Amino acid sequence: MIYFDNSATTIPDDSVLASFVQVNKRFFANPASLHLAGKEAEALLNRSREQILSIVGAPDGVVLFTSGGTEANNLAVIGFARALQSRGKHLITTKIEHPSVLLAMEYLECQGFEVDYLSVDEQGIISIEELKSKLRTDTILVSIMHVNNEIGAVQEISECARIIKEHSRAIFHSDTVQSFGKLPVSLTGEGPDAITISAHKINGLKGSGLLALRKGRTPEAINFGGGQENGLRSGTVSVADAAALAKAMRMGSMDTEQPNFRQWRNRLIEFIKQFKDVLVLAPEKGAPHILSIAFNKINGEVAVNFFQENGITISTSSACSSKSTTVGHVIEAIGVNGKYKNGVIRISFGKNNTEKEIVEFEHVFARFMDLLGRGNK
Ligand SMILES: Cc1ncc(COP(=O)(O)O)c(C=O)c1O
Repeated sequence: MIYFDNSATTIPDDSVLASFVQVNKRFFANPASLHLAGKEAEALLNRSREQILSIVGAPDGVVLFTSGGTEANNLAVIGFARALQSRGKHLITTKIEHPSVLLAMEYLECQGFEVDYLSVDEQGIISIEELKSKLRTDTILVSIMHVNNEIGAVQEISECARIIKEHSRAIFHSDTVQSFGKLPVSLTGEGPDAITISAHKINGLKGSGLLALRKGRTPEAINFGGGQENGLRSGTVSVADAAALAKAMRMGSMDTEQPNFRQWRNRLIEFIKQFKDVLVLAPEKGAPHILSIAFNKINGEVAVNFFQENGITISTSSACSSKSTTVGHVIEAIGVNGKYKNGVIRISFGKNNTEKEIVEFEHVFARFMDLLGRGNK
């Protein structure tokens, strides 16, 4: 099987799986326990934390381990809104965030907060001018994703951070689930105050993620229990998940060699452009590993099934919305032409892919176009 659905999830790396098993066997104790086994588990947990903070460039920052990107985004949005509400109740985000940000924002609106949703252009990019114009003295939080999971649009995160810092006292959170390991992500210099990372998008394990915070940025807890993670995220911490996530981050960090995703993406864009009635939804400054394609009057599911029958796994626009029959919010936000809206598929590369698989994709794509009677332009 050729697997091109890495934005939905990646194949767990053998060494990440091995470290998960080893740590679970050897450091199974509760890291909050006072006995020696507990202390050893806690020491390993703290080592994982330090490694992660060093990778994201915030050695004096804080890592809160969570059950994944969804929980980390919920914690950032709801937690900072609650922590800072004495200063104001105004929040800013974009129309193309992951549902774990958008629905948390909607929840806060019901709780009396006011939210501005920034629009995007046809490339999926926000306007820095619009961001600037929405910032107010009572703005307490801005959440802007780095790379969009459906079309790969990349926001100018440093520029956003600069504007937010210049014109407000708001905390800046960025969902970097799709960008970590593919583009530089850090909490240093002109970067965000808080970032979300999910293990299973970087060859780690599902059900594991984190919120990394610069020193002094503290959300309010949104779950309640034993007070772990300095009271900010209750629940016994999975040391094995933390160690496995640190390992996946070390392996996926930009310093390690990755296949040339950008070259593959450019090659496929040029290839697909030859055919009739197909749009390539690939922002000029898009992420290297995501490419979406829209077919005129063909349902995305039909294409996904054809590729599946020919040994290639791809998805409709995103795994979260792939079972829904409505047009995705990102496709709506970028204003895709009506006839193409239901025909969106997404190809996303991972480090297990090879150039040979790209060539095979082209063959299958050409056969699909042939079948539809949509040969070269
Ligand atoms: C941009 C983005 N944010 C957040 C998430 C949620 O991460 P998780 O699956 O770890 O909850 C995803 C997963 O699809 C994502 O693509």
